[in-house]
Amino acid sequence: MEKTVKARVEALREQIDHHNYLYYVLDEPSVPDAEYDRLLRELEQLEAEYPQLVTSDSPTQRVGAQPLEAFDEVEHRVPMLSLANAFSDDEMADFDKRIRKLLDTGEEITYVAEPKLDGLAISIRYEKGKLVQAATRGDGSRGEDVTQNVRTISSVPLRLIGEDLPDVVEARGEIFMPKKGFAALNERARKKGEKIFVNPRNAAAGSLRQLDSKITASRPLAFYCYGYGELSGSLPGDTYSAVMKSLRKMGIPVSNEQKIVKGVSGCLHYFGALAERRDQLDYEIDGVVFKVDSLAAQGELGAVSRAPRWAIAHKFPAQEELTLVEDIEFQVGRTGAITPVARLKPVFVGGVTVSNATLHNMDEIVKKDVHVGDTVFVRRAGDVIPEVVRVLSERRPDDARPVALPTHCPVCNADVVRPEGEAVARCSGGLYCPAQRKEAIKHFASRLAMDIEGLGDKLVDQLVEKELVHDPADLYALELDQLAGLERMAEKSAQNLLDALEQSKQTTLERFLFALGIREVGEATSRTLAQRFGALERLEKADEELLQQVEDVGPVVASHIVTFFRQSHNREVIQRLVDAGIRWEEHELRMEAQQQPLSGKSFVLTGKLTRPRNEIKAQLQALGARVAGSVSKKTDYLVAGEAAGSKLDKAKELDIEILDEAALQSMLEKLWMKR
Ligand code: IVH
Repeated sequence: MEKTVKARVEALREQIDHHNYLYYVLDEPSVPDAEYDRLLRELEQLEAEYPQLVTSDSPTQRVGAQPLEAFDEVEHRVPMLSLANAFSDDEMADFDKRIRKLLDTGEEITYVAEPKLDGLAISIRYEKGKLVQAATRGDGSRGEDVTQNVRTISSVPLRLIGEDLPDVVEARGEIFMPKKGFAALNERARKKGEKIFVNPRNAAAGSLRQLDSKITASRPLAFYCYGYGELSGSLPGDTYSAVMKSLRKMGIPVSNEQKIVKGVSGCLHYFGALAERRDQLDYEIDGVVFKVDSLAAQGELGAVSRAPRWAIAHKFPAQEELTLVEDIEFQVGRTGAITPVARLKPVFVGGVTVSNATLHNMDEIVKKDVHVGDTVFVRRAGDVIPEVVRVLSERRPDDARPVALPTHCPVCNADVVRPEGEAVARCSGGLYCPAQRKEAIKHFASRLAMDIEGLGDKLVDQLVEKELVHDPADLYALELDQLAGLERMAEKSAQNLLDALEQSKQTTLERFLFALGIREVGEATSRTLAQRFGALERLEKADEELLQQVEDVGPVVASHIVTFFRQSHNREVIQRLVDAGIRWEEHELRMEAQQQPLSGKSFVLTGKLTRPRNEIKAQLQALGARVAGSVSKKTDYLVAGEAAGSKLDKAKELDIEILDEAALQSMLEKLWMKR
């Protein structure tokens, strides 16, 4: 008896999965909703009667898990990258030109064009065809485990379709809220007097960040795939579009707006056509993403900082609105930069209410001729800080008032200096200026720096104002009763903050360097410095000449770094941080700039290799090598596994040294030993 029930249960699951596939992937539903519901109900009944037959990937098991206490952290073994932007046709032409130059080709590039969905990035991992984990992008290397929530999204398959599935498939894409669902959700909230979401993107983010997956399940979320992370076995094709096609075949939804286009003219044509239809789409988009289709070319192009060179987001023109400048104030930033900010009559633009807009610097105010009392165009493009675009001069009232650069810092009263030829004016108060101190500490605690959870801006303001904290090292001396006495700070959150501080002590050298807030040393430069110098002491001792040997470090950055480490108070703060227990693993690589054993050498991997390619690639890169996707005259070594094909032929033709896996292994081992 049970055997026939088991067969029926499996048949029902297959039918339901198949209908989901037709509906969500192919967008061609074949049965009315009522029929689908009937199948689901029958399955539910059988599972209720025979609970031993319930499996985690059954379509009935989307909701039901217990609410979580907190989200776990997930490490992305393949980092989740971001995208560079283009805001005009010219910038698109530059992008295309750059690619042809880097690939050294005069031929038209084949791109894949797809909508830039306005939601949040997700990585969904399948092992042996079953959904096992879903994680947010986070900082690109580590995100939050939102598996329970993602399972509730009906367009996300709980198991993949097909024979011979790869052991591991990581589908990457966007979780978003379609416009209709968003409107209905807000309508419901309005009726109940609950919080209204400002736009579908915020609604999607808020819905995914729920600890109780039942709430997520009640929100109309959807998913489209536009990439992949880990994929075991050999790739199912040598183009991005072929991989997407095969993921689609496994039941993963991919936008059917995805198209192949040729050259920059093809890109611009697609962009114009989609812009026209933007309002008719079921979901919000804020531009078009173009990706080089050839995976070999992608490999060759590689990535800079956190964005691949082979892709770009062409943004739709920013949305603009008119509003009134009620006042102009001056803010003091982390490096003392004095930035004029326009206080605006609140206006809804680009999906959010804007009441402040940056005016960048005095030159901008003069150039745009902005007065208090003016009516101005305000622009907000995507996540970009709102800005004043221009003045509507015919609406200037008689009592409009021009503004001048203050001679003294509005916060600490120190002199404001503006070196000749520079646009930026600065407060000369340094770390004596509370505004600079606050910003330095906020930066230190921020997510990509020391990532101190719970240390928000308002709290930092209080800590500095109450003189509990003067510099980042003071944070680690805070005590429970000092914190618990602060505004809006209960004992529990005070303890949480102390725990978060404790946790932040284990960090990485690159985060620590970034956290120090050395001028012009951003996230990417910090990473390069950490990799090149390996240990803080070495960097502290480096002179400008040595620093300039590091890529991306020019004379200005080098001088900022040297100046920073020369200041005794900076060295003292670092010492106190180390004494407080801040620690990091020294980079495995302990070499001075440019002395890595494989610097300047280019490798190509081909054929079936016994170890994951990413692993081999990472080891080669750690020794300074470049790993390219295709063989050219510039290739130094071809690593050929079994069944290598055309790349091997080409390498032989070009007389390039060929290594089998064993030879590579012994080469790597020798080099590791030498370090
Ligand atoms: S590709 C390899 N494709 O835009 C690059 N991203 O601004 C990884 N996004 O973090 C992203 N639609 O959340 C890609 N078709 C699309 C996209 C897309 C929306 C989002 C994604 C990403 C952000 C970068």
